[in-house]
Amino acid sequence: MKEKKVVDSKTIMTEMIMPNDANPIGNLMGGNLMRWMDIAGGICAGKHCEAHVVTASVDHVSFQNPIHVGDVITLDATVTRAFNTSVEVYVEVFAADVKGHKSRRSNHAYFTFVALDDEKKKPIKVPALLPLTREEQTLYESAARRRELRLVLSGRMKPENASKLKTFFAEH
Ligand SMILES: CC(C)(COP(=O)(O)OP(=O)(O)OC[C@H]1O[C@@H](n2cnc3c(N)ncnc32)[C@H](O)[C@@H]1OP(=O)(O)O)[C@@H](O)C(=O)NCCC(=O)NCCS
Repeated sequence: MKEKKVVDSKTIMTEMIMPNDANPIGNLMGGNLMRWMDIAGGICAGKHCEAHVVTASVDHVSFQNPIHVGDVITLDATVTRAFNTSVEVYVEVFAADVKGHKSRRSNHAYFTFVALDDEKKKPIKVPALLPLTREEQTLYESAARRRELRLVLSGRMKPENASKLKTFFAEH
């Protein structure tokens, strides 16, 4: 299976916040933003894996700045690392007003997607990722630790087997 570059699956999605996307105080509802993040991340993962994908987990999501009705958001989704049947996708969200002013990063999260066979039943092997830039390499390296952490937290890995995390904590 041929390895793929980050740019091969990079996905950019834009939405304008409409009144029915808002919470009772007029800001974008967090759940709606998470839905768009999941969609952008899923499109990105699907392109990398060339397969149907499902969301297996989402790491910590925090909402740094409110996004208002009429604002325009841009979601950038990139694969940071491919494992065996799963990929980690980093989704960053930027908000601006309709004129493109007051641009700010409003939040970000790491998603894990699992590729499925055409019957949408069994996980299948995914293509490896080739990180090229320094930033891509940094995200690639740290993805192994994040994977261990989420597997430990979800009860799928024993803490004593999280070797990359242990090394990281020992060094910092
Ligand atoms: C994700 C899913 C396919 C994993 O199935 P499974 O039988 O546990 O499969 P496996 O044990 O072979 O794991 C498959 C991959 O998922 C990863 N995975 C499973 N649970 C995970 C979790 N909570 N966090 C991160 N990765 C996870 C495994 O590490 C493995 O990755 P790898 O092959 O790259 O090492 C299955 O749990 C599922 O279908 N979940 C529902 C998905 C869904 O419907 N999402 C939408 C939300 S409503």
